[in-house]
Amino acid sequence: MDSSTKLTLLHRGAEADLFTLVLARWKAVLKRRIRKTYRTAELDVKIRRERTTREALAMHAAKRLGVRAPTLLEVNPEDCSIKMNFIDGVLARNVIDPTSSSDSITIFENFGRQVGILHNGGIVHGDLTTSNVIIAPGFRTFMLDFGMSSHSDEIEDIGVDLHLFERSLATTHTRDTRAFMRAFSKGYRETVGSAQSQKSLKKAAVIARRGRYLALR
Ligand SMILES: Nc1ncnc2c1ncn2[C@@H]1O[C@H](COP(=O)(O)OP(=O)(O)OP(=O)(O)O)[C@@H](O)[C@H]1O
Ligand SMILES: [Mg+2]
Repeated sequence: MDSSTKLTLLHRGAEADLFTLVLARWKAVLKRRIRKTYRTAELDVKIRRERTTREALAMHAAKRLGVRAPTLLEVNPEDCSIKMNFIDGVLARNVIDPTSSSDSITIFENFGRQVGILHNGGIVHGDLTTSNVIIAPGFRTFMLDFGMSSHSDEIEDIGVDLHLFERSLATTHTRDTRAFMRAFSKGYRETVGSAQSQKSLKKAAVIARRGRYLALR
């Protein structure tokens, strides 16, 4: 990277520092996974490199399927960083509660369709939350943060993906998230078909019950 490139801090995450920068006049994001001192240095660098590569490959694969996600511009496994284009919009987490119900329904239907495209293509995201979704004008939803993604069309993995999303909605938002989940499921059904959608959502419900049962023990 040109040493004169100006980095502006965008976000300090649990795993990475993110900066905005300008590349040939385009606004971009640099995501650099940071060292975790509670891991040994050797294991730490192995995990960060693995997640960096995983994120880059999955983001690119998702885009090829037609999922809205940032465009990957550069991968640097040496310093555990990627560059991608900046998505101009608002973070779903910050706008869901104040947004009108009908707009929220549109957002969740759109996002359900996007997750459906991802699952149809044999990829599970691994960290579906409203902190990993940007809403761009026209309620177009962009998926971020593919560091935990994997290739799978196993019903168990798909069920976990959907269950984690539902659980994150319930723990993050104050409104009735069941209505959001219904809208999400409608969009999801449109892209995966009713039989597959029923099977996957049923699996998510079984996983949720299993989780509650284990928590009670
Ligand atoms: N391409 C992008 N365009 C615009 N904003 C982005 C982009 N990528 C990430 N962000 C912003 O940075 C935040 C953190 O990104 P990301 O989720 O990839 O990192 P993280 O380390 O997992 O962070 P956290 O631990 O908070 O989840 C996002 O919630 C979003 O606000
Ligand atoms: Mg994130």
